[in-house]
Amino acid sequence: MDLKITLLGGDGIGPEVLAQSVKCLQAVEETFNHHFTYTEGLIGAVAMDKYGSPLPEETINLCKESDAILFGTIGTLKYDDNPSARVRPEQGLLQLRRELELFTNIRPVRIFPTLVAKSPLKKHVIFGTDFVIYRELTGGIYFGEKQWSEDGTYASDLCEYSEKEISRIAHLAFKAAKSRKKKLTLVDKANVLETSRLWRKVVTRIAESYPEVKLDFLFVDNAAMQMMLNPNQFDVILTENMFGDILSDQGSAICGSKGLLPSASIGAEHAMFEPFHGSYPQATGKDIANPVASILSTAMMLSHFGMHEESRAVVIAVHKSMRKNVVTKDLNANSRYGTSEVGAFIADNIIDSDENLNYNYENIGLGKSTII
Ligand code: IPM
Ligand code: MG
Repeated sequence: MDLKITLLGGDGIGPEVLAQSVKCLQAVEETFNHHFTYTEGLIGAVAMDKYGSPLPEETINLCKESDAILFGTIGTLKYDDNPSARVRPEQGLLQLRRELELFTNIRPVRIFPTLVAKSPLKKHVIFGTDFVIYRELTGGIYFGEKQWSEDGTYASDLCEYSEKEISRIAHLAFKAAKSRKKKLTLVDKANVLETSRLWRKVVTRIAESYPEVKLDFLFVDNAAMQMMLNPNQFDVILTENMFGDILSDQGSAICGSKGLLPSASIGAEHAMFEPFHGSYPQATGKDIANPVASILSTAMMLSHFGMHEESRAVVIAVHKSMRKNVVTKDLNANSRYGTSEVGAFIADNIIDSDENLNYNYENIGLGKSTII
């Protein structure tokens, strides 16, 4: 298959982890005889420094012309520490989601069997956790009208949803539940918010078309608690933009590291794949960031285009890196492997996916990983 891929490294550790994803995709090309082309675009603080805008026109066009976008991370301390900055790097990502109408953000939360002990939750609680968050991505409080009073003593963010915005993601979430454990939990705050009451009304009606899926409801505060007490109860969580943002970080934390989980942002015409995690500015350039979330985002991309075997090969190689302890320091404080070595190991194991081959770990550090 031919694919035109736009690479948006963004800020912080984004470019470093994305480079590992490209290594893995090149291994997929080689192994499965595909042809991917890669074009880089600027977004976030790096784009602001160069063009004065977090999302230059050029980047939007590049994304619109490509089949898929791989996104790194966005945000820098310079802006995080300055609440009065009028233009912020994050606006680049938000505007891009909106421009491309990427209304569904799919965030799988799955515990890796080899990493159960890394979870802050007890083993028997976390073991077997496997759910997916369907987060609405282009509406709600993120995009409602924003205001500041002249004197800077009042601000407001409007939370709005329309039936159309809710129903298009709800259908996707029900379809996902149908092919999984057949349970959909709508997370909202319907005891307080009008928008949540609209979500309940629309989702309850749509549920009639999916009789095999059991629908239940949780208020978001309770859902956050349930995720800690019994994450195994969840299959598909459907929720609005802001609640999904918060719950997905919590979901990645219970899996042991924020550096592990991938996501896909899907619209009718475009698709973008990005890790859950943020830009981790403190780690920038240190070769310590975990590339797994970014690499697994490529696996989601491959599946999205029907390359299921290829996607599996990436996931198997990631599992192998964990089994063999070729991991970054967030997973093993004594690890001597950096971002690029872990990326190289995973890429090499896509090419040589024979599980029985022995790896020459000594050479990995030298950038010439070889099978012995
Ligand atoms: C995410 C991030 C973004 C969001 C930020 C960087 C704007 O936290 O993708 O979860 O809030 O959506
Ligand atoms: Mg977030």
